[in-house]
Amino acid sequence: MLNIDLRGKRALVAGVADDAGFGFAIAKALAEAGASVSVATWPPALNIFMNLLERGKMDASRKLSSGELLTFEKIYPLDAVYDTSGEMPEDVKSNKRYKDVGDCSIEGMAQRIAADFGEKSIDIVVHSLANGPEVKKPLLEVSRNGYLGAVSASAYSMVSMVQRLGPLMREHGSFVSLTYLASERVIPGYGGGMSSAKAALESDTRTLAFEAGRKFGVRVNTISAGPLASRAASAIGIIEKMVEYVSQNAPLTERLTADEVGSVAAFLSSPLASSITGATIYADKGYHAMGMAVPAT
Ligand SMILES: NC(=O)c1ccc[n+]([C@@H]2O[C@H](COP(=O)([O-])OP(=O)(O)OC[C@H]3O[C@@H](n4cnc5c(N)ncnc54)[C@H](O)[C@@H]3O)[C@@H](O)[C@H]2O)c1
Repeated sequence: MLNIDLRGKRALVAGVADDAGFGFAIAKALAEAGASVSVATWPPALNIFMNLLERGKMDASRKLSSGELLTFEKIYPLDAVYDTSGEMPEDVKSNKRYKDVGDCSIEGMAQRIAADFGEKSIDIVVHSLANGPEVKKPLLEVSRNGYLGAVSASAYSMVSMVQRLGPLMREHGSFVSLTYLASERVIPGYGGGMSSAKAALESDTRTLAFEAGRKFGVRVNTISAGPLASRAASAIGIIEKMVEYVSQNAPLTERLTADEVGSVAAFLSSPLASSITGATIYADKGYHAMGMAVPAT
């Protein structure tokens, strides 16, 4: 039987702070396939996430098909807009959400992973995080800081993760990120320079696939997912409309689930996808293929 077998593999999913988004579903799918999974969580969301876990509020969604609960090997604090702790402003370092978590820069996380598991210790890295401080503003009204902030948190963070985690990857490892169709088609309302950030992320996927493929022997892909009412997407303000529009107009009309994207990520991270790198893979019920809205019936 051909199946996704990730036993003996170690995964890191960056961008998990509840059970509603793609990161959680991907972590669960990787665990279902046998991988040991660590997650990285944004410090402002870390306390709430730990509380949800400790109080059993996510037990239903943590249930694996074996009946056991999904557990995380490690939970790392990560603020992906900082490459090193030296770049963190003093007011952030002393903020109550940051002061007790230690070095939560990308480099700090890489050092902790090396200390916890050793130099060549990870096989799978998933980048499932994004932030656009001015996401509700159309591009025509976005400030330079808002635009660069979106690109920094949502695209450069991936470049920095490949730079710093690449050396810790075992051969045939896999990086996967999450992107959105707004990179290549106009999605009114997806503002703040987030469309630009996703375009950068997709372009970088190709260049990083080449460079990291040659340097570390790893693959780099991105999944262009359809809209899902996650916590981050709810910040856009029109997510329900986007979900409804896609279900009316896509080739497949069932609403996309996070678990469907989880399976795609598990496949892309597995040896079954050993020939795929530098690719943008659509997991959107086929919506990207449409060129005209379907008249309402
Ligand atoms: N939900 C959608 O409709 C949709 C569609 C396509 C792609 N995506 C992408 O999927 C990925 C996951 O998003 P999601 O929708 O599942 O929402 P989510 O809220 O589950 O995940 C986003 C995560 O990013 C984290 N984050 C924000 N800023 C960060 C920072 N500076 N450092 C570290 N972590 C930070 C948040 O805490 C959160 O855990 C994102 O890249 C998003 O753009 C989402």
